[in-house]
Amino acid sequence: MAKMWSGRFEKETSKLLDEFNASLMFDKELYKEDIKGSIAHAKMLNKRGILTDSELKDIVKGLKEIETEIEEGKFGFNISDEDIHMAIEKRLTEKIGYAGKKLHTARSRNDQVALDFRLYVLRKDKELSSLIKNLVHTLLDISKKHKNTILPGMTHLQHAQPISFSYHMLAYASMFKRDIERFESSYERNSYSPLGCAALAGTPHPIDREMVAKELGFKSTTINCLDTVSDRDFALEILFNIATLMMHISRLAEELIIWSSYEFKFITISDDYATGSSIMPQKKNPDVPELLRGKTGRTYGNLISLLTVMKGLPLAYNKDMQEDKEGVFDSVKTAEISLVILNEVLKTMHINEENMYKAAKIGHLTATDLADYLVEKCGIPFREAHFITGRAVALAESRGKDISDLSFEELKSIDDRIQEDVLEYLKLEHSMNSRNSLGATSVSQVEKQIEFFEKWLKEKE
Ligand code: ARG
Repeated sequence: MAKMWSGRFEKETSKLLDEFNASLMFDKELYKEDIKGSIAHAKMLNKRGILTDSELKDIVKGLKEIETEIEEGKFGFNISDEDIHMAIEKRLTEKIGYAGKKLHTARSRNDQVALDFRLYVLRKDKELSSLIKNLVHTLLDISKKHKNTILPGMTHLQHAQPISFSYHMLAYASMFKRDIERFESSYERNSYSPLGCAALAGTPHPIDREMVAKELGFKSTTINCLDTVSDRDFALEILFNIATLMMHISRLAEELIIWSSYEFKFITISDDYATGSSIMPQKKNPDVPELLRGKTGRTYGNLISLLTVMKGLPLAYNKDMQEDKEGVFDSVKTAEISLVILNEVLKTMHINEENMYKAAKIGHLTATDLADYLVEKCGIPFREAHFITGRAVALAESRGKDISDLSFEELKSIDDRIQEDVLEYLKLEHSMNSRNSLGATSVSQVEKQIEFFEKWLKEKE
């Protein structure tokens, strides 16, 4: 069958060309946006006297029927139609005849695809934000229950100072909050309608771009048509936002993997979200967090790929830009399923408080507290206090215990300026709660952080 643009061609294109050139098999994802955009365009053409009332009626009815055909799997996708825009337009003309042929007045596929893709990305900015919000809710639920659950806070993956599990979860809530804000700010920055820019230079028809923008829920129209049809910053932004989100997800996934190992056993992943081994009957593997960590890679690839596609393109539209979509669809789908399944893993995992506490008892986590005690309570200069604490650590090691388990007599034998109240200072709970500076790990600071996030989430509802 002849192509829509076949007027100046002498013969039909090759099958190979169709296969190479077509985007229909992936850009059909944009069918909803394409139909929505066409309806808004048709309404505007009608208002400007380019379409009659009955033509508009036929177009809207036809497009809605096509939407149903696609949704019910009854639409015949054929790559010789090239892309979703032409596939829908062709079907419309098949259905309603003459009026269908007028729909493309004052429009090019260049502004049409810029519109459809932008609408899709803006919709996904919102949907992803709300999936991340669910995750923050879960992190807050966990945090509320574990303000007093102590685990070793680490640097270099080495035991450093006691912190609460709430505090650890709230660190991730902070990252995800920034992720949400990134999607929101991308939405705001890109909420401008491309339609009416036509091929690159605008159109001589008496169109009303503002009307279309309003109809489609944009804040306004874009400023310069040449930029508009060749701009893919909005797509790059969602790719970057997803890559950063996945980097955060991957860091949490990495901790879940470590924590569920025998060496840690801080958490137990629920059977619903763990897998077995085909040969080792005893195994229970953290495949979900591993896949979350692994899938992060492809989202980085998608970002770099589109940045590379765009870097050498002269203005305005070039067919290279058809390569913009698959990576975005892939990143969006990866982020969506990742957010949903991570949320489930977190909601259903068992937190082994005793093992966290036991681990916090290894590595003399309150050594700094002893040094601070010697400075504050005994008036000993810090350098000397550091040395005395080193002696206490050595004594504890020689007795095979943690510094927090030394008796008053043992401590006194190191320096007799030490008083009995030292025992309180060496406790993990005391150490954690003494870190009461703004944003710190003490119970009262953690409560403030939870309150902050709850208020922030409420304001978003
Ligand atoms: N399928 C094309 C794309 O995704 C639509 C725009 C085509 N425009 C053109 N002038 N060939 O980029």
